Amino acid sequence: METILESNKTLLDEIIAGLSAERKSLPSKLFYDEYGSKLFDQICELKEYYLTRTEQQIMMDNISGIVEAIPKNSLLIEFGSGSSTKTRLLLDRIKHLSGYVPIDISEEHLHKSAEKLRKEYPGLDVYPLAADYTKPLRLPKISRDVEHRITYFPGSTIGNFTNTQAKEFLTVIAEECGIGGGLIIGFDLIKDRNVLLAAYNDKEGITAKFNLNILRRLNKEFGTDFNIESFKHNAIFNEEESRIEMHLISLEDQTVRLGEEKFYFNKGETILTEYSHKYTIEGFKELAQDYFTIKKYWTDENNYFCIAYLEVK
Ligand code: AVJ
Repeated sequence: METILESNKTLLDEIIAGLSAERKSLPSKLFYDEYGSKLFDQICELKEYYLTRTEQQIMMDNISGIVEAIPKNSLLIEFGSGSSTKTRLLLDRIKHLSGYVPIDISEEHLHKSAEKLRKEYPGLDVYPLAADYTKPLRLPKISRDVEHRITYFPGSTIGNFTNTQAKEFLTVIAEECGIGGGLIIGFDLIKDRNVLLAAYNDKEGITAKFNLNILRRLNKEFGTDFNIESFKHNAIFNEEESRIEMHLISLEDQTVRLGEEKFYFNKGETILTEYSHKYTIEGFKELAQDYFTIKKYWTDENNYFCIAYLEVK
C-alpha cells in the first residue's frame, strides 16, 4: 500500500496500481459515494456492528469530561464527518467554539449535512471542506479568533491505516493543530474474535453490499466491467496484525477491463478493500507517542471501544 504522503497520484492511478499489484487492493475511501454512505449508515444500525453504538454511548456517558478537555476558542476540525451524528453531542455542549470544519470525501452528503447543521446551530460557523483527508489539506479562512485547533477523528477510522500510515497521519494532524492543539480520537479495542467477525460479516448482508458497492462504483465512474455477481464479500480477522481485513473474492477465473488495462483474476483470488485495526490502549499510546500525549481516555463497560483526548507534544 502506498504511503499517505504520496499525494500526487490520482484516484484512477491508485485504482490501477491496486488492481495490478501481486496482492490486489482497492482504496477504502471508494466506499463512500452517496449509496455507500447510506449503506454505512445502515451498518451503524446493525445489531452486530457495536462500534458506532458503543462510541456514542461512551460519548454520552462522559460528555462533560470530553467537553471540558476542549479549550475555549477552539476550532473543531472533523476528519470524515459523514452525518456529524456524534459531533452533535459535542456541539450541543461546547460554548465558545471558533468554528466547525467538517471534512468529508463524499461531497453531496457533506453539503447536505452542513446545511442541516447551520439550521440546528445558528450561532456556529460551519466550514464544510470536501476533501480527501489522506492528502494535504488547505483549511478555509476562519472569521473568528482561533486559539486552539482541535481535531475530532471518531469512528475508529484511524484503523483503516496501516500502523506506518497511522503514524504519518498523526504527524500531519499534529502539525496542522500545532502547539496547544489536541486530538479527540475514537479507536476500536481488541476483543473476542467472534464479536469482531460478526461485526464485519453481518447476517443481513449489508456489509457485503457495502463492500461490493466499490465494484458497482468503479463500473459507473471509471468504466470497468466488473461482473459484480462473480465476486463475494468476506471479512477475516488477521490475529498477527490485529486487524479485520475486508476482501472481495473472485468466484471464477476472469478478466476485468478498464480502458486499455486488463486485470486477471484467478478463482479464489481476493481484492483487499479495507483494514480495520484493533488496538490495546497501551498499543495506541505507543503509536501516537512521537507527537501526542494521551491526556485522558474513556471506555465502555465491556472495553469494546475507546475515546482518547491527546495533546500535541
Ligand atoms: C468507518 C472505517 C471505522 O472499519 O469498522 C464498517 C468501516 N467497514 N464495516 C470500520 C466499516 C465495514 C468502519 N470504519
